Amino acid sequence: MWTCERVIGADLDVSEVAALYRASTLAERRPVEDTGRFAAMLAGANLIVTARAGDGRLIGIARSLTDGVYATYLSDLAVDAAWQGKGIGRDLIRATQDAAPQAKLILLAAPAAVDYYPHIGFERHNSAWTRSHTATT
Ligand SMILES: CC(C)(COP(=O)(O)OP(=O)(O)OC[C@H]1O[C@@H](n2cnc3c(N)ncnc32)[C@H](O)[C@@H]1OP(=O)(O)O)[C@@H](O)C(=O)NCCC(=O)NCCS
Repeated sequence: MWTCERVIGADLDVSEVAALYRASTLAERRPVEDTGRFAAMLAGANLIVTARAGDGRLIGIARSLTDGVYATYLSDLAVDAAWQGKGIGRDLIRATQDAAPQAKLILLAAPAAVDYYPHIGFERHNSAWTRSHTATT
C-alpha cells in the first residue's frame, strides 16, 4: 500500500525526487540534470502531493501550481514504473483536486499519457496554447 500527502516543495530532497522522475521516465522531458533549475521547480510549486510506500520510499508525485480557488496547473505527474497501474496516479490527482476543490485542473499530457487522462475523467480542450520566451527558443 501507499500513502499520499501534501508537502512543501522546498522541504523535499531534490535528489530523491530526481530519482523518482527517472524511475517514472518523466526525467526524459524535465530538466532534472539541471539541479538548480529542478530545485527551483520544487520550491516554486505551491501544491505538491507525494505518494510513499510503507517503507517510506518515494513512489509518486503530483507537482502543481494553484491559486487555490480557480485554476490548478498540474505540471508533473510521475509514478515509479514498478508501481504504475495500481491507482497511485489516480490518488495523487484526487488529493491535488481535494486541496483546491473549486479550481479546475489543467495539464498538458505527455505522449505516453494521452490515453490516460480521458480514461480517468479529463476532458480534451481544443484551444490550449503555449508560448516559450524567445530567449529560450
Ligand atoms: C501516467 C502515470 C502518471 C499514470 O499513473 P499510474 O499510477 O500508473 O496510473 P493509475 O494506476 O492511477 O491508472 C488509473 C487507470 O488508468 C489506466 N492507465 C494507466 N496508465 C495509462 C496510460 N499511460 N494510458 C492509458 N491508460 C492508463 C490504468 O490501467 C487504470 O485503469 P483502470 O482504472 O481501468 O484499471 C504513470 O504511468 C507515469 O508516471 N508515467 C510516466 C510519466 C508520465 O508520462 N507522466 C505524465 C506526464 S503528463
